[in-house]
Amino acid sequence: MKTILTGIRSNSILTLGNYLGALLPMVRLANEHSKDYNVNIFVPDLHSIISEVDGDLRENTIRTLKYYLAAGLQINENVHIYRQSRVPAHSELCWILDCVATMGETSRMIQFKEKSKGQESCNVGIFNYPILMAADILLYDATYVPIGEDQFQHIELTRNLAMRVNHKYGDIFTVPVSTAEQVKFMEIDNGIRIRDLLNPEKKMSKSTKAENSKIMLDDAPEVAAKKIMSATTDSLGKIKFDMWAQPGISNLLQIEALVNNVPLQDVISTWAGETRYGDLKKKVAESVSTMLADFQANLETISDEQVISLLEKGEAYANVVANEKLHEVQQAFQLR
Ligand code: TYM
Repeated sequence: MKTILTGIRSNSILTLGNYLGALLPMVRLANEHSKDYNVNIFVPDLHSIISEVDGDLRENTIRTLKYYLAAGLQINENVHIYRQSRVPAHSELCWILDCVATMGETSRMIQFKEKSKGQESCNVGIFNYPILMAADILLYDATYVPIGEDQFQHIELTRNLAMRVNHKYGDIFTVPVSTAEQVKFMEIDNGIRIRDLLNPEKKMSKSTKAENSKIMLDDAPEVAAKKIMSATTDSLGKIKFDMWAQPGISNLLQIEALVNNVPLQDVISTWAGETRYGDLKKKVAESVSTMLADFQANLETISDEQVISLLEKGEAYANVVANEKLHEVQQAFQLR
């Protein structure tokens, strides 16, 4: 059985960008495919500690997993949820892959450049982070890794490391499909990058300070609506999807499509020829606030105990699968 795998860090409350770019596509894929695929959903808590954590990491982790359930994830015997730190094989494979990856390719990672920019001294974890991510994926022979556009480079690095090991030691790892294939599998037109509402050249990010630049999943629906109403647009006076010339308007069109689960093309056609940005904002504000109200009501119904019991099962499963793969790699590297 092929495996679909993904993770979301739980450093703080998640944004609408995480939700629409990663969580919701994963939930839809999982529900559609979990009869025929293994579906692994984990919280990369070791990735979290490369930077500040808002609140208690353990509680954030449980909350993030509740988000999946509140977004409609259906659990069956093929769906596994776990915490990265509870499966020590991730860290062990990371070290082995550290000895396969080169400084050159790791230094080229845009996320590393962005995250280390302006820091007087940057921790080694920030540099090593894509290699741990490769270990997360390769331990489970994942073919599909639904992620947002900002993680594409890490998938390409993972593929390169897997091919390098396979070339030298025989077919040990399943090479995940290319990012172009990932996008096809996710059934989205392009990689998803929800933009910052005030500065739509940038992605919406939990770490941006300005409150109106991002919608958090715990924002009151009316607060979220206000943030949409104050989103930056442009002065071109036409509603057209063009991420380069009109990133603010295009972002709103994309949010509208994803929140309502309709093809982007349909939303673009509906608004073609319209010129009143206020009308578009009002519609998107309404869609987002309705979605948040439903989501938050669902969240209330899920208990910590429910999540912990799923984690116990998921972690038992993950340890068996990951240790088997690690053992195979250790044998290839003459460690066993
Ligand atoms: P993280 O925690 O930064 O982000 C989680 C997921 O959310 C997506 N995302 C977005 N998508 C669209 N628009 C945005 N504005 C936006 N912001 C974030 C990210 O692309 C990501 O899919 N390294 C990963 C976590 C990770 C992982 C893995 C993922 C660790 N190991 C193995 C997949 C497989 C990260 O930091 O994502």
